[in-house]
Amino acid sequence: MKPPQSIQISALGSYSPAKVVTNEELSKRVNTSDEWIRSHTGIGTRHIAAEDETTTDLATKAVENLLKASGKHVGDIDGIVVATATPDYPGFPSTACLLAQRFGITGPALDVSAGCTGFIYALEVGRAMIASGAMRNALVVGSETLSTVVDWDDRNTCVLFGDGAGCALLESFEEGEGILDTYLKAEAAGAEALVIDPKSRAIKMDGRAVYSFAVRSIGQTIETLLERNSLTIDDVAWIVPHQANQRIISACAKRLGIDVQKFYLNIEQYANTSAASIPLALAEMQEKGLLKDGQKLLLVGFGAGLTYGGTLLTWHQ
Ligand code: ACO
Repeated sequence: MKPPQSIQISALGSYSPAKVVTNEELSKRVNTSDEWIRSHTGIGTRHIAAEDETTTDLATKAVENLLKASGKHVGDIDGIVVATATPDYPGFPSTACLLAQRFGITGPALDVSAGCTGFIYALEVGRAMIASGAMRNALVVGSETLSTVVDWDDRNTCVLFGDGAGCALLESFEEGEGILDTYLKAEAAGAEALVIDPKSRAIKMDGRAVYSFAVRSIGQTIETLLERNSLTIDDVAWIVPHQANQRIISACAKRLGIDVQKFYLNIEQYANTSAASIPLALAEMQEKGLLKDGQKLLLVGFGAGLTYGGTLLTWHQ
């Protein structure tokens, strides 16, 4: 009998643009301070793309880094799923197709739009397409140039965001556990709380509404995935959340009675990179040697839509 398929993340890569903008630098443009930004968000710096650097450029570098670090070859990659809110072209062609063009990949290529939950949604699209046979394997990418949709004169939002890209190769194996469960939701009644305004092309956000949605949805995602899989939080080595705001994570940890150290956070250095934040964090964790064979990881996303959800997986080296 054919063993059940185990679909696993087999390689990771990331890329952050060279330019780093500090809180002090922002405080020269808008009425803010390093103290306010750190105490309200946990953010210290953010990477910002060069003027001629697009979302596809960042994704390309992240994929090149994945190939370099893992020893995989472009020929090993079949399909591409890209999560982004800041595609090079509005509408079409998709960022996934532009990325496929760069690498000469000819399998299925599509973008997923789910705001900061994009990577979690894209991971499930990739997993399901592998399971259905539509792809042999999937390169799942989160890439953003949010700096192009930020109003740099609005202190309420410009301090929060950064640019970057992260990617994961999803492959099917005969042994191991890999992705165990995925939980995806959309609380669409709150759609207008977080938008890219079509007129100004800038992010507009009801910060308080997003804050309470985030704390609620992270909690619901963690509790649902644990309960559905008969696990307790002690069975999970790391929670890797979307990096929106350190205060959101602290509030959530407190509400759930989870040690905040269980949440991997790198927002201090990168700020909120939307769909890129989870794969960026995962790639950094791998580089630091924090991911160990057999560990259970809980990836949790929340963002525009309002969308939220999570992936429970067993990490395999
Ligand atoms: N510097 C100084 N003062 C500021 C800044 C800033 N950068 N931004 C806002 N303020 C001011 C406001 O103008 C306001 O002043 P006022 O009282 O004179 O009107 C004051 O600070 C308080 O504003 P609040 O919105 O109440 O500030 P709050 O303490 O709620 O913090 C924040 C704002 C950090 C945005 C918070 O609402 C939050 O964390 N929201 C979650 C949203 C988020 O993280 N979004 C990220 C993108 S969405 C996502 O990834 C899912």
